[in-house]
Amino acid sequence: MRSARPAGPAEQKGAGDYVTDVDRASERAIAETLASAPEIPVLGEEGGGADGERYWVVDPLDGTTNYLHRFPAVGVSVALVEGGKPVIGVVHAPFLGETYVGEKGKGAVVERPGVEPAQLRVSELPPERGVVGTGFPFRHKKMLPRYLGVFRRCLERFEDLRRPGAASLDLAWVASGVFEGFFELGLSSWDVAAGALLIEEAGGVVTDWEGGPGYLSGDILAGSPEVHAELLAIARG
Ligand code: IPD
Repeated sequence: MRSARPAGPAEQKGAGDYVTDVDRASERAIAETLASAPEIPVLGEEGGGADGERYWVVDPLDGTTNYLHRFPAVGVSVALVEGGKPVIGVVHAPFLGETYVGEKGKGAVVERPGVEPAQLRVSELPPERGVVGTGFPFRHKKMLPRYLGVFRRCLERFEDLRRPGAASLDLAWVASGVFEGFFELGLSSWDVAAGALLIEEAGGVVTDWEGGPGYLSGDILAGSPEVHAELLAIARG
């Protein structure tokens, strides 16, 4: 990523919600690749609509605000969802040179140029040593009271919190033990589907804020089993 240069023009879709030519070009490139299996529809942040038994879900540029500000936590997220659950997940971090790949029942790895892929495993640090990622509900201010109560209790319970700004990468970092957990409200399925599968394949737990399987709704708690249990207890109040 070059410095001292704007990242390019952006259109505003809503409060704090931008789309750039790079979002659109990335989604087109991914859709062209996925078109080799035309029977599987594509749900994409910037265009395609799909649901049903089996579909791809694509965030072509997760962390568009980061991209616009030249902050390098930016992801590209692609998942295959079957029967309401992700079964394949890929998160690519173009400015960090990392690609995370997982398949249901087969584990998950991180690939870096020039080195052997490394198996992903969630952290074993106890909650009081945990650094937990989060994202603010900046587009859903009505969620603030609920979110801020949980935020406060998490800051009390864990060692520290982080807000890098690209949920797919936050989840990949939980899967690889960089973060011990993650919580956010009001995301979309394309932000979370791939990263959630990586965590499950790395021995972690992912649920919605009630402890159910509905995290594709965008309300998500994730972590090592121990940290996830703490997050769930906090979210349930
Ligand atoms: C956003 C990022 C951010 C999260 C937002 C998402 P986008 O994705 O994942 O971390 O807090 O809620 O919408 O819009 O840049 O693809």
